Amino acid sequence: ENASDSSSPGAAKGDGKITMGFAQVGAESGWRTANTKSIQDAATAAGIDLKFSDAQQKQENQIKAIRSYIAQKVDVIAFSPVVESGWDTVLKEAKDAKIPVILTDRAVDSKDTTLYKTFLGSDFVVEGKKAGDWLVKEYQGKTDPVNIVELQGTTGSAPANDRKSGFADAIKAAPNMKIIASQTGDFTRAKGKEVMEAFLKANPKIDVLYAHNDDMALGAIEAIEAAGKKPGTDIKIISVDAVKDGMTALAAGKINHIVECSPLLGPQLMDLAKKVVKGETVEPRILTVETEFTPEQAKAALPDRKY
Ligand code: AHR
Repeated sequence: ENASDSSSPGAAKGDGKITMGFAQVGAESGWRTANTKSIQDAATAAGIDLKFSDAQQKQENQIKAIRSYIAQKVDVIAFSPVVESGWDTVLKEAKDAKIPVILTDRAVDSKDTTLYKTFLGSDFVVEGKKAGDWLVKEYQGKTDPVNIVELQGTTGSAPANDRKSGFADAIKAAPNMKIIASQTGDFTRAKGKEVMEAFLKANPKIDVLYAHNDDMALGAIEAIEAAGKKPGTDIKIISVDAVKDGMTALAAGKINHIVECSPLLGPQLMDLAKKVVKGETVEPRILTVETEFTPEQAKAALPDRKY
């Protein structure tokens, strides 16, 4: 009977090793690729048996993956919820099966916070605010209208919702700033390019692009160049993440400012997993430490940038 008892770590397999089921969002961006690598490397280093699935940015796939982890009686489930809402049922199923759940990177809007043990990740509202504060400072003392276009992340995701609201709040300080178009680019380069092309066609005067991640900014840069304009000069660009390709564009002056969002959540996640599996209490919210980068700082950081 012990062989199927999931109450102690690794009990289902009898090898004493913790098994984690991780339901990843997808492989939509450089950030996500670095996040996946961090989780896989950290699991190996921590001696945790990792079952990994990629939901291709679809909530239904994530729910299926979580249900299969429950059926397999893993010791702990971790996931980065693609969107914020609609998780109560499956989280309740995990709770009923006594499998602890850890949220990483993105939040859920469930009212019942006993459905998960902790949430490890960035404060996306603060990231949006940092982007807006930078822009307000950049145009300080100027009163001419500033036309902003916004490339939003995946619709309904925590980073898209929060980066939008944090930025909107910050630019209220400058009444001449106006978001003239705002649309999702799904956090991908291809969609960023496509939507920016449409923005450029529809709007003769765009001063600023605010992209919710580097990948969309990089796609948009291609569209801006194809339209015969100079990214970073004719249109100022702010983005979020600070992945290597984004930092390279920043160092080259094609992006003007990047707010960092760290994907390196693996080691902290494995530490938390060990604790919750042992039944220890952990902090309910663990914030990632992050900074911002100017072109000069990007140049200095690039040689050591791992992702
Ligand atoms: O949830 C984090 C966001 O997801 C990153 O900023 C973005 O690049 C990724 O796709």
